[in-house]
Amino acid sequence: MTIIKEMFENNKKWAKKLKRKDTDFFSKLSKQQHPQYLWIGCADSRVPANEIVGLMPGELFVHRNIANMVIHTDLNCLSVAQYAIDVLKVRHIIICGHYGCGGISAALKDTATGLSANWIRHIQDIAEKYKPNLKKETDIKQKINVMCELNIAEQVYNLARNSVAQDAWEKQKLTIHGWVYDIEDGLLNDLYCNITDTSILEEKHSAVIEKIFKKYNID
Ligand code: CO
Repeated sequence: MTIIKEMFENNKKWAKKLKRKDTDFFSKLSKQQHPQYLWIGCADSRVPANEIVGLMPGELFVHRNIANMVIHTDLNCLSVAQYAIDVLKVRHIIICGHYGCGGISAALKDTATGLSANWIRHIQDIAEKYKPNLKKETDIKQKINVMCELNIAEQVYNLARNSVAQDAWEKQKLTIHGWVYDIEDGLLNDLYCNITDTSILEEKHSAVIEKIFKKYNID
């Protein structure tokens, strides 16, 4: 059996299994979705959003791109966030990176090619911003992991500064979380960014960055 054929066979088994648990599962889900959370994660195949946090179809709204970035002018990502907030009434946005991220690695080693190299430039900008501290870490694997955490702090900050989040805070509750997933043990690390409004943003952002530097002894 070809892999593609196998996928369809797997799909039939999966749908059957879910229907066995709840006969109306798909008919209920087809009428409406009520996810409580928006997940912005890396496109990496080893980081399946729903599975990691044990959520079912319908429970997590998802956007993924290389190195889980929230770029000020990325209409794709920002439209997902705005729709999640305004229409789905999501109250929690989780920006989740992962250690050993290929996008971060390509940025630090300057190995990205083609169109994606432009996207990766955003990560290189972050590396440039924290160059004096990053220089203190000589082990490349460790440096990539430091950058994975710094990147999350920066992306949480980007989203919090964006008009999408700013508008949301004028009318409803919204918390932006920053997590990093460890592909080596399957566990999530909460960076405790937890931005709940603009007033705490700057202070919280600096504190998270400081904490990362301390943790890796590069402060
Ligand atoms: Co990645």
